[in-house]
Amino acid sequence: MEIWRELGMTTSQCELGNIQGERDSSSPSSRKTKSIEDFKLHSIHSKIPRMCENVRESFREDIKENGIREPVKVNPKDEDEILDGRERYKEAFDLGIEELPYEVANLNGISPVEYIIKSALLRRHLSKSQKAMLAVELKPELEEEAEKRKLRTLKKGEKDPDVEKKINILYYHTDQEDLVIDPMAGGASTVDACLIMGRDCRAYDIKPSRDDILKNDIREGYRKKANGADLILLDPPYGDKMVDEYGGHGFTGGSDEVGENLDQLAEESYEALSTGGKVAFIFGNTKSKKGNGDIWAPDLYQLFRDKGFETEFVYHAPYKGHSNPSGEIQQKSRDIYIFKKE
Ligand SMILES: C[S@@+](CC[C@H](N)C(=O)[O-])C[C@H]1O[C@@H](n2cnc3c(N)ncnc32)[C@H](O)[C@@H]1O
Repeated sequence: MEIWRELGMTTSQCELGNIQGERDSSSPSSRKTKSIEDFKLHSIHSKIPRMCENVRESFREDIKENGIREPVKVNPKDEDEILDGRERYKEAFDLGIEELPYEVANLNGISPVEYIIKSALLRRHLSKSQKAMLAVELKPELEEEAEKRKLRTLKKGEKDPDVEKKINILYYHTDQEDLVIDPMAGGASTVDACLIMGRDCRAYDIKPSRDDILKNDIREGYRKKANGADLILLDPPYGDKMVDEYGGHGFTGGSDEVGENLDQLAEESYEALSTGGKVAFIFGNTKSKKGNGDIWAPDLYQLFRDKGFETEFVYHAPYKGHSNPSGEIQQKSRDIYIFKKE
Protein backbone atom coordinates (compact mmCIF):
# COMPACT_ATOMS: atom_id res chain seq x y z
CA MET A 1 0.00 0.00 0.00
CA GLU A 2 1.23 3.50 -0.81
CA ILE A 3 2.46 5.39 2.25
CA TRP A 4 0.27 8.38 1.45
CA ARG A 5 -2.70 6.04 1.63
CA GLU A 6 -1.50 4.78 5.00
CA LEU A 7 -1.39 8.39 6.10
CA GLY A 8 -5.09 8.60 5.28
CA MET A 9 -4.74 10.68 2.13
CA THR A 10 -6.97 10.36 -0.87
CA THR A 11 -5.96 11.18 -4.40
CA SER A 12 -8.25 14.22 -4.36
CA GLN A 13 -6.00 15.68 -1.65
CA CYS A 14 -3.04 15.54 -4.03
CA GLU A 15 -2.01 18.71 -5.73
CA LEU A 16 -1.39 18.68 -9.43
CA GLY A 17 1.44 20.77 -10.73
CA ASN A 18 4.26 21.11 -13.19
CA ILE A 19 6.41 18.68 -11.30
CA GLN A 20 9.48 18.51 -13.48
CA GLY A 21 9.91 21.87 -15.10
CA GLU A 22 10.31 24.89 -12.91
CA ARG A 23 12.74 23.69 -10.26
CA ASP A 24 15.66 23.09 -12.58
CA SER A 25 18.11 25.76 -11.48
CA SER A 26 21.25 23.76 -12.22
CA SER A 27 23.83 25.09 -14.63
CA PRO A 28 24.64 22.76 -17.54
CA SER A 29 28.28 22.60 -16.36
CA SER A 30 27.36 21.06 -12.99
CA ARG A 31 25.24 18.34 -14.61
CA LYS A 32 26.63 14.90 -15.27
CA THR A 33 25.07 11.71 -16.58
CA LYS A 34 25.60 8.08 -15.71
CA SER A 35 23.93 4.69 -15.92
CA ILE A 36 20.71 4.42 -13.95
CA GLU A 37 22.01 1.11 -12.59
CA ASP A 38 24.65 2.97 -10.58
CA PHE A 39 22.16 4.88 -8.43
CA LYS A 40 20.63 3.92 -5.09
CA LEU A 41 18.20 5.64 -2.74
CA HIS A 42 18.95 6.86 0.79
CA SER A 43 17.05 4.76 3.36
CA ILE A 44 15.09 7.76 4.76
CA HIS A 45 13.18 7.89 1.46
CA SER A 46 11.11 4.93 2.66
CA LYS A 47 9.48 7.26 5.21
CA ILE A 48 8.46 9.86 2.66
CA PRO A 49 5.08 9.44 0.93
CA ARG A 50 5.16 8.56 -2.76
CA MET A 51 3.61 10.79 -5.34
CA CYS A 52 -0.18 10.31 -5.67
CA GLU A 53 -1.39 8.14 -8.54
CA ASN A 54 -3.18 10.90 -10.48
CA VAL A 55 -0.14 13.18 -10.34
CA ARG A 56 2.16 10.32 -11.23
CA GLU A 57 0.31 9.70 -14.50
CA SER A 58 0.95 13.19 -15.86
CA PHE A 59 4.49 13.04 -14.47
CA ARG A 60 5.11 9.82 -16.40
CA GLU A 61 3.68 11.32 -19.60
CA ASP A 62 5.94 14.33 -19.18
CA ILE A 63 9.01 12.11 -18.82
CA LYS A 64 7.98 10.05 -21.86
CA GLU A 65 7.68 13.22 -23.91
CA ASN A 66 10.60 15.29 -22.59
CA GLY A 67 12.90 12.84 -20.83
CA ILE A 68 14.31 13.69 -17.38
CA ARG A 69 14.77 17.45 -17.47
CA GLU A 70 15.76 18.13 -13.90
CA PRO A 71 18.87 16.25 -12.71
CA VAL A 72 18.52 14.19 -9.54
CA LYS A 73 20.60 15.52 -6.63
CA VAL A 74 23.18 13.18 -5.12
CA ASN A 75 25.11 13.01 -1.88
CA PRO A 76 28.44 14.90 -2.15
CA LYS A 77 30.08 12.08 -0.17
CA ASP A 78 28.56 9.27 -2.24
CA GLU A 79 27.62 10.31 -5.75
CA ASP A 80 25.57 7.13 -6.28
CA GLU A 81 23.15 8.01 -3.51
CA ILE A 82 20.09 10.02 -4.52
CA LEU A 83 19.00 12.65 -2.02
CA ASP A 84 16.39 14.42 -4.14
CA GLY A 85 14.70 12.92 -7.20
CA ARG A 86 13.35 9.56 -6.08
CA GLU A 87 10.25 9.81 -8.28
CA ARG A 88 12.28 10.75 -11.37
CA TYR A 89 14.63 7.86 -10.69
CA LYS A 90 11.83 5.33 -10.19
CA GLU A 91 9.81 6.44 -13.20
CA ALA A 92 12.91 6.54 -15.41
CA PHE A 93 13.77 3.04 -14.24
CA ASP A 94 10.28 1.72 -15.01
CA LEU A 95 10.32 3.39 -18.42
CA GLY A 96 13.61 1.71 -19.28
CA ILE A 97 15.60 4.96 -19.47
CA GLU A 98 19.24 3.93 -19.25
CA GLU A 99 21.03 7.13 -18.27
CA LEU A 100 20.08 9.64 -15.60
CA PRO A 101 21.26 13.25 -15.33
CA TYR A 102 22.50 14.13 -11.85
CA GLU A 103 24.33 16.80 -9.94
CA VAL A 104 25.91 17.01 -6.53
CA ALA A 105 23.58 18.50 -3.93
CA ASN A 106 24.65 21.72 -2.25
CA LEU A 107 23.98 20.79 1.36
CA ASN A 108 24.72 24.27 2.69
CA GLY A 109 25.76 22.93 6.07
CA ILE A 110 22.83 20.58 6.64
CA SER A 111 23.07 16.78 6.70
CA PRO A 112 21.90 14.49 3.85
CA VAL A 113 18.88 13.37 5.93
CA GLU A 114 17.88 16.98 6.60
CA TYR A 115 18.34 17.76 2.91
CA ILE A 116 16.00 14.91 1.91
CA ILE A 117 13.35 15.97 4.42
CA LYS A 118 13.62 19.61 3.43
CA SER A 119 13.38 18.76 -0.28
CA ALA A 120 10.32 16.59 0.36
CA LEU A 121 8.63 19.34 2.35
CA LEU A 122 9.27 21.82 -0.44
CA ARG A 123 8.08 19.48 -3.19
CA ARG A 124 4.90 20.55 -4.84
CA HIS A 125 3.49 17.09 -5.40
CA LEU A 126 2.61 16.64 -1.72
CA SER A 127 -0.53 18.30 -0.43
CA LYS A 128 -0.36 20.76 2.47
CA SER A 129 -1.87 18.25 4.88
CA GLN A 130 0.57 15.55 3.74
CA LYS A 131 3.46 17.93 4.35
CA ALA A 132 2.16 18.88 7.78
CA MET A 133 1.85 15.20 8.74
CA LEU A 134 5.23 14.45 7.28
CA ALA A 135 6.85 17.22 9.32
CA VAL A 136 5.40 15.70 12.50
CA GLU A 137 6.31 12.13 11.46
CA LEU A 138 9.89 13.01 10.67
CA LYS A 139 10.57 15.21 13.69
CA PRO A 140 12.41 12.35 15.51
CA GLU A 141 14.74 11.96 12.52
CA LEU A 142 15.42 15.70 12.50
CA GLU A 143 16.10 15.62 16.22
CA GLU A 144 18.50 12.74 15.78
CA GLU A 145 20.35 14.69 13.11
CA ALA A 146 20.46 17.68 15.44
CA GLU A 147 22.03 15.49 18.13
CA LYS A 148 24.65 14.33 15.67
CA ARG A 149 25.43 17.85 14.60
CA LYS A 150 25.34 18.96 18.24
CA LEU A 151 23.00 21.81 17.41
CA ARG A 152 22.04 24.11 20.24
CA THR A 153 18.49 24.06 19.00
CA LEU A 154 16.29 21.11 18.05
CA LYS A 155 17.73 18.77 20.70
CA LYS A 156 15.86 15.55 21.27
CA GLY A 157 13.11 15.81 23.87
CA GLU A 158 13.98 19.41 24.68
CA LYS A 159 11.87 22.37 23.79
CA ASP A 160 14.05 25.28 22.83
CA PRO A 161 11.99 28.42 23.57
CA ASP A 162 13.68 30.30 20.71
CA VAL A 163 12.75 27.63 18.18
CA GLU A 164 9.23 27.30 19.60
CA LYS A 165 8.78 31.08 19.31
CA LYS A 166 9.79 30.98 15.66
CA ILE A 167 7.56 27.96 14.99
CA ASN A 168 4.60 29.94 16.33
CA ILE A 169 5.40 32.90 14.09
CA LEU A 170 5.74 30.63 11.06
CA TYR A 171 2.56 28.73 11.92
CA TYR A 172 0.38 31.81 12.17
CA HIS A 173 1.96 34.11 9.61
CA THR A 174 3.40 32.01 6.77
CA ASP A 175 2.41 29.10 4.56
CA GLN A 176 4.22 25.95 3.62
CA GLU A 177 6.99 26.57 1.08
CA ASP A 178 7.14 30.29 1.88
CA LEU A 179 10.58 31.86 1.79
CA VAL A 180 11.79 33.20 5.14
CA ILE A 181 14.83 35.48 5.41
CA ASP A 182 16.64 35.97 8.70
CA PRO A 183 19.45 38.53 8.28
CA MET A 184 20.59 38.32 11.93
CA ALA A 185 20.22 34.61 12.46
CA GLY A 186 22.33 34.19 15.63
CA GLY A 187 21.95 30.66 16.99
CA ALA A 188 19.89 29.56 13.94
CA SER A 189 16.55 29.10 15.68
CA THR A 190 14.79 30.37 12.54
CA VAL A 191 16.67 27.90 10.34
CA ASP A 192 15.62 24.98 12.54
CA ALA A 193 12.03 26.19 12.84
CA CYS A 194 11.84 26.45 9.03
CA LEU A 195 13.17 22.92 8.71
CA ILE A 196 10.45 21.62 11.04
CA MET A 197 7.70 23.67 9.43
CA GLY A 198 8.63 23.12 5.77
CA ARG A 199 9.50 26.72 4.98
CA ASP A 200 12.41 27.64 2.77
CA CYS A 201 14.99 29.69 4.64
CA ARG A 202 17.94 31.94 3.88
CA ALA A 203 19.90 33.01 6.94
CA TYR A 204 22.73 35.52 7.39
CA ASP A 205 24.74 36.89 10.28
CA ILE A 206 27.79 39.07 10.74
CA LYS A 207 29.23 36.21 12.83
CA PRO A 208 27.71 32.96 11.52
CA SER A 209 27.40 30.27 14.18
CA ARG A 210 26.75 27.44 11.69
CA ASP A 211 27.54 26.46 8.12
CA ASP A 212 23.94 26.99 7.03
CA ILE A 213 24.17 30.71 7.92
CA LEU A 214 25.98 32.93 5.43
CA LYS A 215 28.21 35.80 6.47
CA ASN A 216 26.77 39.26 5.85
CA ASP A 217 26.79 42.63 7.56
CA ILE A 218 23.23 43.88 7.33
CA ARG A 219 24.36 47.51 7.39
CA GLU A 220 25.86 46.99 3.96
CA GLY A 221 22.37 46.44 2.62
CA TYR A 222 20.33 43.30 2.29
CA ARG A 223 17.58 44.33 -0.09
CA LYS A 224 18.79 41.97 -2.81
CA LYS A 225 19.20 39.12 -0.35
CA ALA A 226 15.65 39.64 0.88
CA ASN A 227 14.10 39.76 -2.59
CA GLY A 228 11.29 37.25 -3.01
CA ALA A 229 10.85 36.81 0.74
CA ASP A 230 7.41 36.06 2.12
CA LEU A 231 8.58 36.84 5.64
CA ILE A 232 11.61 38.76 6.87
CA LEU A 233 12.38 37.88 10.45
CA LEU A 234 14.29 40.59 12.30
CA ASP A 235 15.70 39.69 15.70
CA PRO A 236 18.47 42.25 16.28
CA PRO A 237 20.57 42.60 19.43
CA TYR A 238 18.78 44.66 22.05
CA GLY A 239 20.64 47.95 22.31
CA ASP A 240 23.91 47.69 24.19
CA LYS A 241 22.70 44.85 26.40
CA MET A 242 24.99 42.33 24.70
CA VAL A 243 27.74 44.80 23.88
CA ASP A 244 30.41 42.44 25.19
CA GLU A 245 29.12 39.55 23.05
CA TYR A 246 28.21 41.40 19.83
CA GLY A 247 30.25 44.59 20.32
CA GLY A 248 30.95 46.89 17.39
CA HIS A 249 28.23 45.60 15.08
CA GLY A 250 26.24 48.79 14.89
CA PHE A 251 23.12 47.19 16.29
CA THR A 252 24.64 47.04 19.73
CA GLY A 253 24.83 50.79 20.30
CA GLY A 254 22.62 53.29 22.04
CA SER A 255 19.20 54.55 21.06
CA ASP A 256 20.42 56.90 18.29
CA GLU A 257 22.62 54.36 16.57
CA VAL A 258 20.12 51.51 16.85
CA GLY A 259 17.27 53.82 15.80
CA GLU A 260 19.16 54.89 12.68
CA ASN A 261 20.10 51.34 11.71
CA LEU A 262 16.59 50.06 12.28
CA ASP A 263 15.10 52.91 10.30
CA GLN A 264 17.27 51.80 7.38
CA LEU A 265 16.27 48.18 7.97
CA ALA A 266 12.56 49.03 8.00
CA GLU A 267 12.94 50.94 4.74
CA GLU A 268 14.88 48.18 2.99
CA SER A 269 12.45 45.55 4.22
CA TYR A 270 9.52 47.51 2.82
CA GLU A 271 11.26 47.88 -0.54
CA ALA A 272 12.32 44.22 -0.72
CA LEU A 273 8.87 42.79 -0.01
CA SER A 274 6.09 42.38 -2.53
CA THR A 275 2.52 43.21 -1.60
CA GLY A 276 1.39 40.74 1.06
CA GLY A 277 4.97 40.23 2.30
CA LYS A 278 5.54 40.38 6.04
CA VAL A 279 8.11 41.34 8.65
CA ALA A 280 8.30 39.77 12.10
CA PHE A 281 10.24 42.20 14.28
CA ILE A 282 11.32 40.99 17.72
CA PHE A 283 12.54 43.46 20.29
CA GLY A 284 12.83 43.77 24.06
CA ASN A 285 12.79 47.12 25.85
CA THR A 286 16.36 47.91 26.82
CA LYS A 287 17.69 50.06 29.64
CA SER A 288 21.10 51.15 28.42
CA LYS A 289 24.03 49.50 30.16
CA LYS A 290 26.48 52.24 29.24
CA GLY A 291 24.31 55.36 29.40
CA ASN A 292 23.72 55.37 25.63
CA GLY A 293 19.99 56.02 25.81
CA ASP A 294 17.26 53.51 26.63
CA ILE A 295 15.40 51.87 23.78
CA TRP A 296 11.68 51.22 23.90
CA ALA A 297 10.20 48.70 21.51
CA PRO A 298 7.09 50.83 20.73
CA ASP A 299 9.37 53.60 19.36
CA LEU A 300 10.93 51.10 16.98
CA TYR A 301 7.46 49.81 16.09
CA GLN A 302 6.65 53.30 14.89
CA LEU A 303 9.62 53.28 12.48
CA PHE A 304 8.00 50.41 10.58
CA ARG A 305 4.59 52.07 10.58
CA ASP A 306 6.15 55.25 9.20
CA LYS A 307 7.51 53.31 6.22
CA GLY A 308 4.00 52.21 5.30
CA PHE A 309 3.65 48.82 7.01
CA GLU A 310 0.28 47.77 8.41
CA THR A 311 0.22 45.89 11.71
CA GLU A 312 -1.01 42.32 11.43
CA PHE A 313 -0.48 41.31 15.05
CA VAL A 314 1.42 42.11 18.25
CA TYR A 315 2.66 39.44 20.67
CA HIS A 316 4.41 39.64 24.01
CA ALA A 317 6.87 36.79 24.48
CA PRO A 318 7.98 36.41 28.13
CA TYR A 319 11.65 35.88 28.86
CA LYS A 320 12.45 32.48 30.28
CA GLY A 321 12.96 32.65 34.05
CA HIS A 322 12.03 36.32 34.31
CA SER A 323 8.82 36.09 36.27
CA ASN A 324 8.72 38.14 39.47
CA PRO A 325 6.62 37.98 42.65
CA SER A 326 3.65 39.42 40.80
CA GLY A 327 3.81 36.34 38.58
CA GLU A 328 1.90 36.18 35.37
CA ILE A 329 0.35 39.62 35.56
CA GLN A 330 3.70 41.37 35.36
CA GLN A 331 6.52 39.68 33.57
CA LYS A 332 9.42 40.95 31.51
CA SER A 333 8.83 40.17 27.88
CA ARG A 334 9.88 41.17 24.40
CA ASP A 335 7.48 42.30 21.75
CA ILE A 336 6.94 40.54 18.45
CA TYR A 337 5.41 42.84 15.87
CA ILE A 338 4.06 41.31 12.69
CA PHE A 339 3.89 43.88 9.89
CA LYS A 340 2.39 43.46 6.46
CA LYS A 341 2.95 45.38 3.23
CA GLU A 342 -0.51 45.96 1.81
C1 LIG B 1 19.46 38.60 19.20
S1 LIG B 1 20.67 37.75 18.21
C2 LIG B 1 19.63 36.83 17.19
C3 LIG B 1 19.06 35.74 17.96
C4 LIG B 1 18.67 34.60 17.07
N1 LIG B 1 17.38 34.87 16.50
C5 LIG B 1 18.73 33.31 17.81
O1 LIG B 1 17.70 32.65 17.96
O2 LIG B 1 19.81 32.94 18.28
C6 LIG B 1 21.30 38.98 17.17
C7 LIG B 1 22.27 38.54 16.10
O3 LIG B 1 22.52 39.67 15.27
C8 LIG B 1 23.82 39.56 14.76
N2 LIG B 1 24.26 40.87 14.27
C9 LIG B 1 24.61 41.96 14.98
N3 LIG B 1 24.95 42.97 14.15
C10 LIG B 1 24.82 42.50 12.89
C11 LIG B 1 25.03 43.06 11.61
N4 LIG B 1 25.47 44.31 11.48
N5 LIG B 1 24.78 42.30 10.52
C12 LIG B 1 24.34 41.03 10.66
N6 LIG B 1 24.14 40.43 11.85
C13 LIG B 1 24.37 41.16 12.96
C14 LIG B 1 24.63 39.06 15.95
O4 LIG B 1 25.83 38.44 15.52
C15 LIG B 1 23.64 38.09 16.60
O5 LIG B 1 23.89 36.78 16.18
